[in-house]
Order: sequence, then C-alpha cells, then structure tokens
Amino acid sequence: MAERVILETGKTFSEFSLLTNYTSKECTLQKISLNTRLGNLKLSLPFLSAAMTSVTGYEMALALGKEGGLGVLPARLSIDEQVSIIEKIKGYEMGFVEDPITVRETATIDEVVRLVEKHGHSKVPIADRNNVFVGLFSFDKYLDANATPGDPVTTIMITPEELPCTNNSNISLEEAKKELKGNSYLVVLDELGRLVKIAFQKDIDNISVAAAISTHKGWKNRVKSCIKAGADMIVIDTSDAYNEFTSEVIKEFKKINDSIPICAGNVITYEGAKYLMENGADLIKIGMSSGSICTTQREKATGRAPMTALLEAAKAREEYHQETGKYVSLIIDGGVSAAGDMIIALTVADAVMMGGYFNHFYEAEGEKLDESMQVTNHEPDIKHIATWGEGSARARNLDRYGHVARKTFFAEGEEGTVENWGRLKPKLKQDIRKIKAALSNTGCMDLEQFRDKAIIELMSTYTQQIIGSTHNMQVKE
Ligand code: IMP
Repeated sequence: MAERVILETGKTFSEFSLLTNYTSKECTLQKISLNTRLGNLKLSLPFLSAAMTSVTGYEMALALGKEGGLGVLPARLSIDEQVSIIEKIKGYEMGFVEDPITVRETATIDEVVRLVEKHGHSKVPIADRNNVFVGLFSFDKYLDANATPGDPVTTIMITPEELPCTNNSNISLEEAKKELKGNSYLVVLDELGRLVKIAFQKDIDNISVAAAISTHKGWKNRVKSCIKAGADMIVIDTSDAYNEFTSEVIKEFKKINDSIPICAGNVITYEGAKYLMENGADLIKIGMSSGSICTTQREKATGRAPMTALLEAAKAREEYHQETGKYVSLIIDGGVSAAGDMIIALTVADAVMMGGYFNHFYEAEGEKLDESMQVTNHEPDIKHIATWGEGSARARNLDRYGHVARKTFFAEGEEGTVENWGRLKPKLKQDIRKIKAALSNTGCMDLEQFRDKAIIELMSTYTQQIIGSTHNMQVKE
C-alpha cells in the first residue's frame, strides 16, 4: 500500500475567495505598491514570464522588464542566444516608433482606450485631418484621471506645450536623447507641425532579466556567460527539482557566484521545498502538471493542484525562516491565467510565473497567425498566436524532463494556439489595477502586508457557480 493516501482534494486558485478587511483612507490604488523581493533582486511587479520558447525572447523580456517584471529566457536557447538577448536588454536605451497609429481630435476617450487595448501602444498621438499634431493620449494618465468615456480625447490629452517636441524630422537617436530633457519621449514633427515619429526612452534605470539553465552538462558555462552579460537571476528549470542533481547545481553555483540569486524548481511538496531551502536555494519555484499546455498528469499521473502545492511550500518557508532567519521567496508557476488567480496566489507567493497568460501577447515568441491560420506580421490581422510546451514534440526540451535520448522521448506538453490579446502593456496595466483593488479591499499597502493579513476562504462548487459568474440573466453581447 502507498505510504500515504491523501483523501482531501488538492485546490486551485479559483476555488478561493478573498475576504475584505478594514481599509483606511490612505489605502488608495495610487499608493499601493506591488514591489517584491526575490532573493536580493527587487522587482516592482511580481510577475515572471515563463522560460518557454513560445513565450520569452527579447521582445517579451524587454516589454515585461520595462513594466518592472522579469522575463526568464528559456534554457532551450543556446548560450549565445541567451547572452545576446541579455546584452541587448541591458543596453536598451531608446528607439523610434515610426508611423505611429494616430486618432483624430474628434475621437472619444472610449474609442482610444479600445484602440490601445487592441494595438497595445499606450501613448497614442492625436492629429487633425492634415496629420498636424494636436496632443498625446497617455493610457497611464487616463487610468489616473476621472474621465468620462464619451468625452473627446482632447479633454485628457497631454498638450504639445507639456511635451518635448522637435521639428527636426531627420533627428538621429543620439540627438533625440539630448532633446529629451528628463522626459521619456520626444514627438518628432516636420516643419508644418505634422507628426513623423515618436522617440521613446526607457523610463526605468535597469531592466531586469533572468536566464534559465538545466542541471545537465554545460550549465556552468551558461551561468558564467549569462552572469557576465548582466543576468539578474539564474533559474534552474527542471520539471522535478527534488533531487540530488539540483542540490549539486545550487551548491556549485554558490561557489561561482554570490551576487545574484538562484531560483530552483519545480517542487510540489513540503519536503521538496524544504530540501531545496536546506541546500541553499534563494528562491523556490512551485508547480507541476498545472501548466496550460501541460499533459504530465495525463501521461504520468504526477503533479499537484497548484494552490495546495504552494501552501505546502509556504509551510516549509515558515519553518525554515523560524529555524534560520532566512526568508526564501516562493514563485508559483503554472495555472495562473487571470487577475483573480494572481490575487489568490499572491496571498501566499512572492511572485507569479506565467506562460499561457503572456503567450497571448504580441511580444510572445510564438508565430502570429491570421483568421485562416496563416503566418502574418501585419498587426491588425493577428488573431491567434502559436503556443507549445517545453515538453512538447516541438520544443523537445529533454533536459527539463530528465529524458536521456531523443528516441525514447515522450511528450509532456501540447502544441496549439491562443487568442491574440494585442500588446502586453494595456492588459497588464488593467490586471495590475485589479490586483491593487483587491489589496485595497483588504486594507493592504503592499504585498508583504497582503501575505500577512489576507484571509481567503474555500468555496463549494455551488458557491463558485453563484459568486463566480453571473446568474439568472442573459449577458448583453
Ligand atoms: P501556464 O502559465 O499555466 O501556461 O504554465 C507555465 C508553466 O508550465 C511553465 O513555466 C512550466 O513550468 C510549465 N511547462 C512549460 N512547458 C511544459 C510542458 O510541455 N509540459 C508541462 N509543463 C510545462
């Protein structure tokens, strides 16, 4: 008979509801912070994009890094590929958006917001019918303003007087940089005041980026090269990390480097988490079989409901903290696909890694497909984005799943498509607001308080039907 048979069912995020708590006047969305600390790395957003070849490459790591999160470059990339992406991100300073999509001054705020959600550029220039520049719509300003959706966009635009503009339409990036004078963008007009392009500068000092490694041969060279290129964290990416290979890599890693943190994973049990903590991991990644593209449970009947796995790891974190004074951050990985999941996960985890969620955006690595599933690079035509798991026949990441030979490999992941959600920034900003609103409902100013104070309650299947969706009504299309 099995050593232990657990008859209580495992739980996932959407089975829980967050209870409210007293909220002071101070606790407004503008003041709430989503900063998190992963080992000695500080992020202003507790999100990591998965180390999946369909998700994270230069574009995703840059877009998420700019928002304060962390892209994790897949171990399936070559060392040279990881290094060149890290170097590019660290060297990223500014670029031009040529031919930006504009709106007319007669457009309503609502129309522009829909455009931002579709195409993703959070700054939309407003121009008259001769393309003469009138002002700039900023999605960030809109979120902070108490705007009426039907009002003209000009009521909340940033006016040309408030913006750095230049009439030198042939300006170079170097010259544009000088003209910025502390701003993060420069509007380039021609001599008649018509819009030519916009120059954007990165608005945070340092964009963080991480690199995944396996526990197989060659990992040391990869670590050394990635650290030299400027990686902010190394992630041991294996589907099951409760083993001697992983603890050896952690120990060896600590001999090579003591400046950046090492994340080890994945584990799903109290014992697995405790083992990695005791062997020196700075961070631990939790989850197995819960990934959106994952077929591990189907193939090997192995894995665990993600919230249960996280709660078990949190017990180990608590105990280890009491014993040693060392706080080991936890990253939940797999099965988090919407703001509600993120909120429940963050009552326990320090950060959330997502694959499927980020795969929906233009910045993901998967091919962009039109209505007829043909590859297209024309943004308005993109309806779907290709996705595949690291254990799928396409990625064949043998190292992650401990397969020794291509011949005997069996897939633990699917290949398919997801719906295109446009550019990352607007949707991410909306989800960030939902998370901040939940923190505000519980009276928490930051994620540390949230982890200490949050109260979550399990719902029955019946309750999930009643409070989890609308009922006894037809939703207007
Ligand atoms: P998602 O956010 O639900 O899509 O889960 C993403 C996570 O799924 C990744 O970070 C990996 O831990 C895991 N994963 C990626 N590819 C595979 C696969 O092919 N099989 C099983 N799990 C996978």
